[in-house]
Amino acid sequence: MAFRWAITSAGKIAADFAHAVRQLEGHEVVAVAARSEAAARDFCARHARGAKAYGGYDAMFRCPRHGADACYVATRPDSHKHLCDRLIERRMPALCEKPLATTVADVEALYAAAHGSFLMEGVWTRCFPATVKARELLRSGAIGDVVGVQAEFGYDITHGCPDGVRGSQATGGMGRDIGVYLAEKALLAFDSSVYDLADARGVAVLGHGDGVDLTVAAAVRLVGKDGKRRGGVASLLWTGQCDTPEQCTVLGTSGSLRFTETHHTPRALEVTRRTSRTTSVTEVLDFPPPPDDGQHDWNYPGSIALQYEAASVARAVRNGESEAPEWTQADSLAAHRIVARVRDQCHTLSEDVAVEKPDF
Ligand SMILES: NC(=O)c1ccc[n+]([C@@H]2O[C@H](COP(=O)([O-])OP(=O)(O)OC[C@H]3O[C@@H](n4cnc5c(N)ncnc54)[C@H](OP(=O)(O)O)[C@@H]3O)[C@@H](O)[C@H]2O)c1
Repeated sequence: MAFRWAITSAGKIAADFAHAVRQLEGHEVVAVAARSEAAARDFCARHARGAKAYGGYDAMFRCPRHGADACYVATRPDSHKHLCDRLIERRMPALCEKPLATTVADVEALYAAAHGSFLMEGVWTRCFPATVKARELLRSGAIGDVVGVQAEFGYDITHGCPDGVRGSQATGGMGRDIGVYLAEKALLAFDSSVYDLADARGVAVLGHGDGVDLTVAAAVRLVGKDGKRRGGVASLLWTGQCDTPEQCTVLGTSGSLRFTETHHTPRALEVTRRTSRTTSVTEVLDFPPPPDDGQHDWNYPGSIALQYEAASVARAVRNGESEAPEWTQADSLAAHRIVARVRDQCHTLSEDVAVEKPDF
């Protein structure tokens, strides 16, 4: 029997998810809720034929006939906490787009409330085969002990970005939008079950008129929870002011691992092992994306690969798990703590929050 999805919102990533799932064997979208019924109907006609349309998210949550196995929450970040709370009350498995919530306290509260009910933050990068392989290599010591990780990610938000990014200092900004993908890289290198955040510093360029973080350079230090592992550092940069190559390199005592491009939708890994002080062997591992029938103009690059995340959720829910192993609740909480610690330092400049219009 197919794994049945409900979707909240008729927005851009919701449309991409619907088309990724349409092309994934054994999955279907059975219900879509939007703030307006007309938008939900239009979405179903264009992206999820046969799904039932609901006017209002609560209308769908309350309806016992939607028949979904899990709900994909794809609304603006400032609504995630409320919607996930409603789903948890109903013990409905939830995959919620990043960021799960706009404060660390809300993220903690959600995971505490979920208490056995499936809840996953949609950090889809972790479900890509390239990331799964990278994690396996790092955990098995393929490049020795990890010393540090260096990564950047940015896109020019003047060419379009989710509504919430420009929202406000309290709920918007690039840290919440994509900082999580950089924190994810730090936690890929330094497993959140073994390492703790010891220190994080950040400097930022803020938007005039709203104070949201536009470009951030962060330095993070992680140490072993057992007090024995020395840990290491992460050098992370995120920006909404330009497109970036999206590269990430993890450095170890006997080699390195590099996501050659677009590390948030990774397709290739370069693993270098030192054979002597002056020589090394490099292996390139390719992970082609799933086939695409070309019937949808994707709103975001690489969205066909949302299939990996959908499959991961279905596996976990069917196994009766409350989280997926690729991006656990502990990983998610650790990432939010890193981003929040950095953002908090960048948001103390009250003089940047003037009444003039945003300059981006
Ligand atoms: N995984 C990824 O690569 C990826 C890529 C892009 C975005 N995202 C995440 O996905 C989420 C949605 O992003 P998006 O690009 O799809 O944004 P979007 O097209 O602007 O859609 C956001 C939706 O939020 C809903 N919403 C709820 N309350 C709202 C309010 N007060 N004002 C405006 N909209 C409100 C609207 O749903 P209705 O249709 O019901 O009105 C709207 O369609 C964000 O959390 C974003 O970070 C993830």
